[in-house]
Amino acid sequence: MSELSVNHLLGIKYLNKKDIDLIFETADHFKEVINRSIKKVPTLRDITIANIFFENSTRTKLSFELAEKRLSADVINFSAGQSSLKKGETLIDTVNNILSMKVDMVVMRHPNPGAGIFLSKHVSAAIVNAGDGAHEHPTQALLDSYSIREKLSEVAGKNVVIVGDILHSRVALSNIFALKLQGANVKVCGPKTLIPKHIESLGVEVETNLIKALEWCDVANMLRVQNERMDISYFPTTREYTQQFGVTKSILQKLDKEIVIMHPGPINRGVEITSDVADSGQSIILNQVENGVAIRMAVIYLLASKIK
Ligand code: CP
Repeated sequence: MSELSVNHLLGIKYLNKKDIDLIFETADHFKEVINRSIKKVPTLRDITIANIFFENSTRTKLSFELAEKRLSADVINFSAGQSSLKKGETLIDTVNNILSMKVDMVVMRHPNPGAGIFLSKHVSAAIVNAGDGAHEHPTQALLDSYSIREKLSEVAGKNVVIVGDILHSRVALSNIFALKLQGANVKVCGPKTLIPKHIESLGVEVETNLIKALEWCDVANMLRVQNERMDISYFPTTREYTQQFGVTKSILQKLDKEIVIMHPGPINRGVEITSDVADSGQSIILNQVENGVAIRMAVIYLLASKIK
């Protein structure tokens, strides 16, 4: 029987192409399940999962919880703001206390890069990284590639540009790893100040002209400017950023082909993307959200089958 090469999902960096293929095949099955009238399977009735979120989340948190419930796992939710972390308890003590309640898997979002990796070395449960600072967001990259595969039949050979704040984006790094593993051609586009130095070493090209990037690509993955991770100004004004890197309907209409528009959310409408683009037929933003549940069901199922 096929199984993942890893016991935790800490980043796309630790996966191989076979892992991604297996996750996608498993997600195909679960996507069919969640579109039935009875959307639930009893597969993980004996598994307990803790979702621990130290940072805000809408899509990822709800999507994981729904995925776990669709698989019939028992679910507990932990929000850092209402916890004893405020009284000085360490991350390891917090998680070990949760695990002593017989929890099998921890899904964690944390502001510090590497928090999931650190935890996986100190606790016995399977760890799923739901976003660690500006490092990785592996399930987002998996659902993004899965959505490209669904829309364009395959990922290999496709031209994908990731536009925006690459420097502060865990979505960008995980997407680069996932797309390159699957044989896509990847460019990043944004202000020079928001593109990490030496990013070419990951096998991607840098394009600072949005129109050229859009003319080249099959898919544009639009990212939000992450003001909450910025302690200095990286561009003069939001208006100037939008003028140079915002995608509008009129820009898309001038291209000689129809490209696919993606966005991981949350969207800043009118900044990186206008509403008429976000809500257009070219946008697969809500398909990404739908696919997130199937992808997370696949990841949880495959990791759970390694701890049984
Ligand atoms: N895409 C994403 O991670 O969104 P949330 O921050 O709402 O989970």
